[in-house]
Amino acid sequence: MRSSSYDVSVIGAGPAGYVAAIRCAQLGLKTVCIDRWTSNGRPALGGTCLNVGCIPSKALLDSTEKYHEVLTTYKRHGIIVKDVSMNVKTMIKRKNRIVTSLTRGIASLFKGNKVESIHAHGRYAGGNVVELLDWNTSQKTGEIKADHIILASGSTPIELRSAPFDDDRIVDSAGALEFDSVPKKLGIVGAGVIGLELGSVWNRLGSEVIILEALDEFLPTADHDVAAEAAKIFKRQKLNVLLGTRVESARAQDSGVNINYTVKGNQQQLTVDRLIVCIGRRPFTDNLFTQSSGIQLDERGFIQVDQNCRTSVSNVFAVGDSVRGPMLAHKGSEEGVAVAERIATGVGHINYATIPWAIYTSPEIAWVGETENEVVAAAGKCRTGSFPFIATGRAKAMEDTAGFVKIVADADTDRIRGVHIIGPHASELIAEAVVAMEYHASSEDLARTIHAHPTLSEAVHEAALSVDARGIHRLN
Ligand code: FAD
Ligand code: NAI
Repeated sequence: MRSSSYDVSVIGAGPAGYVAAIRCAQLGLKTVCIDRWTSNGRPALGGTCLNVGCIPSKALLDSTEKYHEVLTTYKRHGIIVKDVSMNVKTMIKRKNRIVTSLTRGIASLFKGNKVESIHAHGRYAGGNVVELLDWNTSQKTGEIKADHIILASGSTPIELRSAPFDDDRIVDSAGALEFDSVPKKLGIVGAGVIGLELGSVWNRLGSEVIILEALDEFLPTADHDVAAEAAKIFKRQKLNVLLGTRVESARAQDSGVNINYTVKGNQQQLTVDRLIVCIGRRPFTDNLFTQSSGIQLDERGFIQVDQNCRTSVSNVFAVGDSVRGPMLAHKGSEEGVAVAERIATGVGHINYATIPWAIYTSPEIAWVGETENEVVAAAGKCRTGSFPFIATGRAKAMEDTAGFVKIVADADTDRIRGVHIIGPHASELIAEAVVAMEYHASSEDLARTIHAHPTLSEAVHEAALSVDARGIHRLN
């Protein structure tokens, strides 16, 4: 039975855990990272994000966006392409290759940074003890001792009792990354981030997509102008989002999935070839700690932590999807770095007010900070400026002119409180806004910053100018 001692033991090698482990090792701490993820019978580092999340979904989004562009915008450039078709199996293989190269990349980073990697299920047993269990049988195979423990066990999809997964026709987001053919009719429960991204993937390949969303409001966490624009654009793309729906039952048959649902109390029926259920994720803490260890969960099942990610046990921290806050890879990674630095130096910092969001639909949607409604609710007033991509030369040259940039600034101080973008490369453009907010910039600071011409970032510049009604390329 294995037994060793470390300065730090990290449980979970997703973007929160593997980043924490690397940073700990860089800071001179003897570090081990325990992870249970298995792909095709082999250990695979990187957690949800690399194996079945951020990376594979973006690989499919990129493949299908290129395919869709060939079909739609190429002829406007004068490019004539005949007999265009998509080989779905090749697309999935490409995605798998990207995933494998990145998960192996983490193994190399661990090696290079001298992070020891153990493939096992880790269970915190109190004090400085972590038990190692066989990832498959849960039999104890050893234990290790560590002065500090970082729990980074991530999250897992929420199952809908009325539409249980069968891993064939009714699937979660991981299953929806593996379809080997294009479903003729695809149902999706949940018009959140996954529903919109994976709905876009299969819609671009020709699926008729119907999204059943429980709420009456579309994308309620986005700024209302962005959500309204997105709803209009997605409707044009024939992503059929049915708001205010309640799925009563969904049953897989040989011929498809029969769904019974209600819209505003009216019973409806729908048959689809496949159904993706993506109604959110829950923290994954199964068998992560013993009852006597002292770790506590909050009322929603997240590991209870303070603002420094410290759990109810002083030498144990928790980071990423298994603790409060947005379930985003970069949020988990930054928490991982901050905790590593706190352990090594006593000081570590993360600014939760400037965590960007990006949704990789076409056009992309990205934001940071508060929405206009949130600022008005908190302060009673605000200043806003916006600029449409159609008025920028670069977006026109790219044939990609949908959307706009909107800046929300404080009415008294002009400090930027939120930036909201729907448009081409919004996920990249938002970085400028994050940096500006990190440095407490005002909208005037952005307005006085020189932006290269012709670029999409000029829309950010013009939106900042228009907060003060002095935009140049649009009438104020
Ligand atoms: P995870 O990535 O879930 O990793 C946790 C790891 O811990 C796993 O390997 C798990 O097997 C392991 N583990 C759990 N318990 C134990 C245990 N007891 N012992 C040993 N190992 C254990 N976020 C973004 O920011 N951008 C995106 O574009 C994006 N796209 C996404 C697309 C999809 C389809 C999905 C599902 C998610 C997406 N996310 C995205 C969210 C992102 O994947 C998560 O926020 C991120 O993976 C969380 O990182 P984590 O390290 O906390 O947890
Ligand atoms: P989500 O929380 O984004 O959206 C779930 C949607 O399902 C919500 O609109 C909710 O109202 C709806 N819903 C809940 N119960 C329902 C029901 N019974 N019937 C119909 N609709 C119902 O969750 P999603 O899309 O599953 O994604 C999980 C998380 O993964 C995201 O919140 C995000 O943190 C992360 N993610 C991030 C991505 C990115 O950063 N680009 C991409 C994909 C996922």
